[in-house]
Amino acid sequence: MSKFMEWVDARFPATKMWEDHLAKYYAPKNFNFLYFFGSLALLVLVNQIITGVWLTMSFEPSAEGAFASVEYIMRDVEYGWILRYLHSTGASAFFVVVYLHMFRGLLYGSYQKPRELVWIFGMMIYLALMAEAFMGYLLPWGQMSYWGAQVIISLFGAIPVIGNDLTEWIRGDYLISGITLNRFFALHVIALPIVILGLVVLHILALHEVGSNNPKGVDIKKLKDENGIPLDGIPFHPYYTVKDIVGVVVFLFVFCAVVFFFPEMGGYFLEKPNFEAANALKTPEHIAPVWYFTPFYAILRAVPDKLLGVIAMGAAIAVLFVLPWLDRSPVKAMRYKGWLSKIWLLVFCVSFVILGVLGVLSPTPGRTLLSQICTALYFAYFIFMPFYTRMEKTKPVPERVDG
Ligand code: HEM
Repeated sequence: MSKFMEWVDARFPATKMWEDHLAKYYAPKNFNFLYFFGSLALLVLVNQIITGVWLTMSFEPSAEGAFASVEYIMRDVEYGWILRYLHSTGASAFFVVVYLHMFRGLLYGSYQKPRELVWIFGMMIYLALMAEAFMGYLLPWGQMSYWGAQVIISLFGAIPVIGNDLTEWIRGDYLISGITLNRFFALHVIALPIVILGLVVLHILALHEVGSNNPKGVDIKKLKDENGIPLDGIPFHPYYTVKDIVGVVVFLFVFCAVVFFFPEMGGYFLEKPNFEAANALKTPEHIAPVWYFTPFYAILRAVPDKLLGVIAMGAAIAVLFVLPWLDRSPVKAMRYKGWLSKIWLLVFCVSFVILGVLGVLSPTPGRTLLSQICTALYFAYFIFMPFYTRMEKTKPVPERVDG
C-alpha cells in the first residue's frame, strides 16, 4: 500500500491534500454543535446531487410531459417515491442547515478578519442555492411552480427601460412555457450544480488558508508549540470526523422522519396547489413561495412601490455581503461583545422569522404594517452596526480557548 501511495504521491498530491485538509488541519478544540452544520451542508449537497441524477433519468422536461413524469416517478418507477422525497425534503433541509450555519457565523463573528472571503464565498453559495431552488421548483410543472415563477420573473419587469425585454429573455417566450421549463432544467441540473460545487471548494480552501474560528473567537494560531502546532488545535481527522458522525446521525433521524412521515410538511415543503398541473388560465387564490424565500418575499411586499420593493429585496441580500466591514468590534464572539450587539442580533433574528411567517400569509393592512416594521428592523441591524459595535464596552478575550 505504501509503495502504491509513493507512486501516486510522485504524480499527484494525494497524501499532501489528505494531511493539509484533514489529518494535519488543526481546528480549535472547542467546537460546539453549531459547527456540525458545515459538514451537514456537504452531506445534503451530496444527497441532492445523487437523488437529482436519478430523478433526471425518469423526468421529462417538457410542458406536456413534466407533471405526468413526476407522477410516474412517484407511482411506477421503483423507489421513485423515495428519490423524490429525499430530493424535495433535501431542498428544505439544505436551507435549514445553511441558515443555522450562517447564524453561527453571526454569533461568533466568523465573517470578521481574516475570514472575509470565507463569508463572501458563503454568500455566493447562498445566492446560487436560491437560484438553484427557484429553478428546480418550476420543474414539476404544478400550479405553484408555474405561478410562483410567474411572480418572480415578472419582478424583473419593474426594472426601468430594459424590464420587459429582460423578462422575455429570461422566459424565452411571451409567457412561461415549455421553453422556460427546458432552460430552467438545463440550469438546474448542470450549470448551477457546477457553480455550487466550485464555490464550496473555494469556500473550504479559503477557510483552511486562515483556519477555523471557534465559539470564543480566540485566535489559536497565536500560541504554538515547538513544532508549530497550535496549542489549542486538534487534528480535524480523526477528532472532528468522528464527532461530526454524531451530528450526521441526529440529522438523519430528523431528516428520515420527515421523508417517511411528513414529506409535504403540512404544505410547507411541497405546497398543496402543486398537486394540480400548471394551468396558464387559472391563477391560484394565494401565491406564496416556499418557506425559505418568504422573509425576502415579505420585504418585497412591505414596500408599496414595485421597483422599490425589488430594490429592498435585493438590498436585504446584498447587505449581507458587506457584513465583514460593518462589524467594527475588536472582539469576534458574541459572549465578549456588549449588550447592544446581543440585543441587535436578537432583534434581527426575530424580525427575520416574523418576516418569514408573514411571507407565507396573505396580506392584510395589519400584517403589512408589521412587515414594514420588521423590514425596518432588519436593515437597522446592519445600518447601525458600525456604530453600536464601536460604542459598546467589550469583555477581554482569553488567550486560550479554555481560559
Ligand atoms: C452548500 C453550502 C455550504 C457548505 C457545504 C459549507 C461548508 C462549510 C464547511 C464544511 C465549513 C467548515 C466547518 C464549519 O465551520 O461548520 C464551513 C465554514 C464556514 N462557512 Fe460554510 N458552507 C456552506 C454555505 C455557507 C454560507 C451560505 C455561509 C455564509 C454566508 C457560510 C459561511 C461560513 C463561515 C463564515 C465559515 C467559517 C466558520 C468558522 O470558522 O467559525 N457557509 N462551511
